This record gives sequence, C-alpha cells and structure tokens, in this order.
Amino acid sequence: MKVPFVDLPNQTQKMKTEIMQAVESIVDSCQFVLGPAVSAFESEFAEFVGAKYGVGVGSGTDALHIAYRAIDLKPGEEVIVPAHTFVATPIGVTMAGGVPVPVEVDESTFLMDLNKVESAITSKTRAICPVHLYGRSENMEEVMSLAKKHNLIVIEDASQSHGSHWNGKCTGTFGDIGCYSLFPGKNLGAFGDAGVMVTDNEELKDKIMSIRNYGSPKKYHHPILGFNSRMDSMQAAILRIKLRNLKAFSEGRQAAAERYHKLLEGIEGIQLPNIPGDNQHVFHLYVIRTEKRDELQKHLQECGVGAGIHYPTPWHLQGAYNNLGYSEGAYPLTEKLSHQILSLPMFPEITEEQQQHVADSIKKFF
Ligand SMILES: Cc1ncc(COP(=O)(O)O)c(C=O)c1O
Repeated sequence: MKVPFVDLPNQTQKMKTEIMQAVESIVDSCQFVLGPAVSAFESEFAEFVGAKYGVGVGSGTDALHIAYRAIDLKPGEEVIVPAHTFVATPIGVTMAGGVPVPVEVDESTFLMDLNKVESAITSKTRAICPVHLYGRSENMEEVMSLAKKHNLIVIEDASQSHGSHWNGKCTGTFGDIGCYSLFPGKNLGAFGDAGVMVTDNEELKDKIMSIRNYGSPKKYHHPILGFNSRMDSMQAAILRIKLRNLKAFSEGRQAAAERYHKLLEGIEGIQLPNIPGDNQHVFHLYVIRTEKRDELQKHLQECGVGAGIHYPTPWHLQGAYNNLGYSEGAYPLTEKLSHQILSLPMFPEITEEQQQHVADSIKKFF
C-alpha cells in the first residue's frame, strides 16, 4: 500500500466538475486579474474567519511583506518571530527592510515560547509575528497582552492555520493584520500561488490594496510605493469553491489526528503531538518527534509512506541570514527539533486503512 504525504488528486477530482465550471466562467469573462471573483472571495474569506476585510494577494510571502510595508516598518526596526517556522516568516520582515528576531519555541507545542518574548524586546522592536505552526493556534490572549504592554503591532502568520480557533475566534483575526498562504498544499489551497490578508482596520485595508497594486489607490496615481501582487480571478473562483468545504476539510484532518493518536499511542521512542480541543488545531501537519528521525523516514519511504520534515534547518542558520550572525547553539531546542521532527501523511481524505499502514510501518521500525 502507498500512502502519499498529501493527496491533492483525490480532493481535486471530487470537486473537478464544479471547479471546471468556475474556470470556464472566468475564461468567458476574460477578467483575469482581480475583478468580481476576487472581491467575492475576499468578502467570503473575511466572513469565514470573522474579519471585516479580506485582500487577495500573490502568495503568503507577499502577504507578510505587504503587511510590514502597510505598517511602515522602518529600516532596522525589529520584529519578533519564532525560531521554529518556515523561512517565509522572517523573509516578509526582511523584504520590508526590517530585522527578524528569533525567539525559542515551547517544547510542548513547538510554537513560540511566549515566556521568552520579553527578553527579546529592544528599543527597536516594532512588531511581533506569532505563527500558528502546523495549524495550532498560539495563545493569542497572551500575545495580545504582551503586544499591548510593549506597544507592539501584531502581524499573524496564519499560513498553516486557516480556521483554527483560540477561545472561539479564528487565528489571523486577533492582530492588526492576519496573513495566510493559499499555496496548493495548504488547508485552503489554490491551483497555484496565492495568499490572502485580513484586517478590521479600514485604513490598513486601503493601504494593503494599494501596495498590492503598484501603490495605486486610483489608476495611474501612485502616492506610495507598491508592487504587483494581485490575486488571479481564476484562483479566486477556485478558492471560493474550496472555501465552502474548508470546515469539512478541517474536520477530516482533526478526525485523522485523533485516529493517529489511538493507533500510535504507547509506542516507545516517539512523542505524539497533543490534541487540544475547541478547534484550536486544524492539523495542517501531524508532527511526531523521535531521536531516530532519519532512519524512521527512510524506513517509511521503503514501506510506501511519504513523510516530510518541517523544517530540517532553522532559518537563523540558513545562508540567507548569515548577516545576522547566529551560529549553532543559539536556539538549542529549535535546532534539536529540526533533527527530530517528522510529519506523517495528513490530508482530509486520508483513510483508516492508510493510517493503519502508517502505524504498522512505524511499529515495525521500533
Ligand atoms: C508558516 C508559513 N509562512 C509563510 C508561508 C509562505 O507562503 P507562500 O508559500 O504562499 O509564499 C508558508 C508557506 O509556505 C508557511 O508555511
């Protein structure tokens, strides 16, 4: 039996007829960039997460970059980000001229350790970027109170957490701006690159809309510097259909996580992710921890099971960030995790038989 890491063909085939109709309507209209489909997706997504405004952009990375430009991040200003995240989180800061400052993660959630944020704050700190990594919500109550105390802007990276909650409210809607990737493999994925931003602040919304469109609030007027990061109409039309299924996708992922837990509980040598209730986790990824990670990944591959590593090298040790001067040992837990984490196959349509095969293969290894 083969169990892919993600199974996009399965999900795509099920929606193909509806999607092809939506694509056809865009082809017929020849309105390919922004337009009614993008506006409709923006309002529907904002409504889904409970925000006032949504703005469609070119990618999750662009969303982060635009967010920092929208708040007028000044050269050299610092933004607190987790050490354990995808490199796009700090890239958004760097692209806008700021300096990302890593903070160590919490051992039980793999999210930013909020107890370590205050010691990273300096006179140059302007914002904090919690990342709801793997689909799990950060403790947003605590993030917001830290931000209030230190007068920081909050830019949420909700690229992996579409629809996850903290205290009944969606991730991405607590801070000043929420940024989501809509890359095909994400919980809500387009058929190419795309991203969406949400905010309750009308002024920020207008600025974001200008920045994604050459800094232009009105055709051929460019009062601020922007670039081109507009959402394609075709992507918006497809995303509107997928958005209607997002709640069911999340439920499928949550059920799969529960099943993994039952199947894998008690195996010595692996640590399972804990499963918080109240829709706090939408399981973009189901990540286990083991000291024998590389050997287990190889064994799973031989058993036909696709497993991934998110992420094998922390961003503070990447060549792109050599200039910040971090060396090995700077963030010991993040670095240790990068050698021990393994993401198991996870997608809403994964079957019990497929999960059984993953579990049997892991048991065989140990
Ligand atoms: C946490 C996180 N932030 C940002 C991004 C960047 O999104 P994109 O790939 O759409 O640019 C991703 C996705 O890859 C991500 O997982």
